[in-house]
Amino acid sequence: MKIVETIFKAVPTLAVSAGGAIFAVELFSALSAGAGEPFPDELIAEGAAIFYELGCAGCHFPAQPIEGNTAPRLENLDERYAEDDIVALLDAPPGPMPRFDLDEADKRALAAFLLTTF
Ligand code: HEC
Repeated sequence: MKIVETIFKAVPTLAVSAGGAIFAVELFSALSAGAGEPFPDELIAEGAAIFYELGCAGCHFPAQPIEGNTAPRLENLDERYAEDDIVALLDAPPGPMPRFDLDEADKRALAAFLLTTF
């Protein structure tokens, strides 16, 4: 990861010197997202779609109380979780939370949505 970050940090500089300023800006926002800075809007939107598609809200924000449901309302997540913590939680969900079959990109998108929304 360290190596990848170093390469990513070096690339915008190269791109700027090559006159590829827009490319550099895009790369920089991708890098910032990884560093805990604001996530790209598209990633957040993708995470929102996955969240509602998989029915996460059914347990975490039920329209009606469900007997035996112990899922907490999702709140202040960014105070307690980093992006990697959310990915880890989805890999090994706590207590009665089911495990969903998600690929890495889905988990990152969900993390972006959860950390910026709740
Ligand atoms: C069947 C109900 C259920 C579903 C569906 C469900 N969860 Fe959960 N989730 C839980 C429960 C119960 C907990 C608390 C477990 C514990 O701490 O013992 C939890 C905990 C969490 C937490 C930690 C909350 C905190 O405040 O620390 C996050 C984040 C989370 N779930 C995200 C999701 C996402 C994202 C999805 C959809 C992919 C999802 N959950 C689907 C039941 C559910």
